[in-house]
Amino acid sequence: MTQLHEIFTNFLNGQRIFKNRDALSISFTPETILHREKQIEELGKILAPALIGCKPSNVFIYGRTGTGKSLVSMYVAKELMKVSRENGSNVKVIYVNCKMKKVTDTEYRILAYILNEFGEKVPFTGLPTEELYKRVVKKIDEKEQVVILILDEIDALVEKVGDEILYNITRLNQELKKAKLSIIGITNDLHFITRLDPRIKSSLSEEELVFPPYNANQLKDILEQRAKIAFHEGVVDKAVIEKCAAIAAQEHGDARRALDLLRVAGEIAERRGDKKVTVEHVDMAHEKIERDTFIETIKHQPLHSQLVFYSILELLKTKKEVTTGDVIDFYLEVCKKLSIKPVTERRISDLIAELSFFGFIDTKVVSKGRYGRTRIITLRISKEIEEKIYSMLLEKFY
Ligand SMILES: Nc1ncnc2c1ncn2[C@@H]1O[C@H](COP(=O)(O)OP(=O)(O)OP(=O)(O)O)[C@@H](O)[C@H]1O
Ligand SMILES: [Mg+2]
Repeated sequence: MTQLHEIFTNFLNGQRIFKNRDALSISFTPETILHREKQIEELGKILAPALIGCKPSNVFIYGRTGTGKSLVSMYVAKELMKVSRENGSNVKVIYVNCKMKKVTDTEYRILAYILNEFGEKVPFTGLPTEELYKRVVKKIDEKEQVVILILDEIDALVEKVGDEILYNITRLNQELKKAKLSIIGITNDLHFITRLDPRIKSSLSEEELVFPPYNANQLKDILEQRAKIAFHEGVVDKAVIEKCAAIAAQEHGDARRALDLLRVAGEIAERRGDKKVTVEHVDMAHEKIERDTFIETIKHQPLHSQLVFYSILELLKTKKEVTTGDVIDFYLEVCKKLSIKPVTERRISDLIAELSFFGFIDTKVVSKGRYGRTRIITLRISKEIEEKIYSMLLEKFY
């Protein structure tokens, strides 16, 4: 009875925390975009010629994760279409998120998706790709129009289907008689463009736009704007916003991370039945998000990386420090027990380096007298995360 009473009271207190929690979700589009005036203006100027039927330059947009690339591109595209409708010109924007499964797994599928955006259905498979390209050209060229194709997370597309598709798409313009086609490529992989074939690179990046990371002050403004919509008045202290902004600024100026922190802090406060969101809630949120990210990362690692990490965890249960040699011996034993074919020692070393890169472990090279040098491995994650990952791996292997 009292327990239920507490649940309900806590819930009601929670109601006093969030006014509109959707404002902190990933699908929410803010009405105003702060601190991206320059990028909005530049992209606007590049795309404006579409309004008089000219082909805008292709644009390549890059910047780290959470710096507003998708938000700004979609915003500018939407405004462009709005003005185009008002002045009677024909501008069509097609937005493709290349990370979307099933849409962009093959060249065929992405072309089918584009055709579908024009209202033309094609069978899931069966037609030659050449035929799809022909249909796309025909569809775009049906009338005098400017089509802007936004390929968001373009690196994922190239990883899945190779870069030939970009060459083919940028070349389509030469076959168009009435219409024009421009491409906006977006990525957070800063080395992506240097890996591209030079001929694709030069046509794709006729213009380049860089989205720098947000600093703590800018993140504070973004959070404040969002907090006003998401929380009831007086629930979130200034110090809370400052803390979220500071943490996210340290982790490369990522607005998504800052908003996540604020949302999770609010949820923790709500679940505990607290009336206000405090700095302590932000600390807990930070830990929770970090824990979730670590666990997700390990879950998606290849099997042998998991086996190596499991070996490290198991060894550290009885020893204070372990060396690469210890890990290799233990790993080989585990593989034998599980009848799994082990990878080479060289590869194990690479996997250890990778685990260190992800922040799971620290490695330090030490000199071991006449035996030469060896690497000492220590854990960098908290006890709590360690336990979670350990039991997850144990369950998977045994
Ligand atoms: N200047 C801003 N003002 C308000 N909200 C912002 C701003 N920049 C980013 N956001 C918000 O932060 C989140 C991340 O932004 P966005 O998705 O545009 O990042 P991105 O640069 O495309 O990242 P990724 O490379 O990971 O795709 C979104 O929820 C977005 O609404
Ligand atoms: Mg994005």
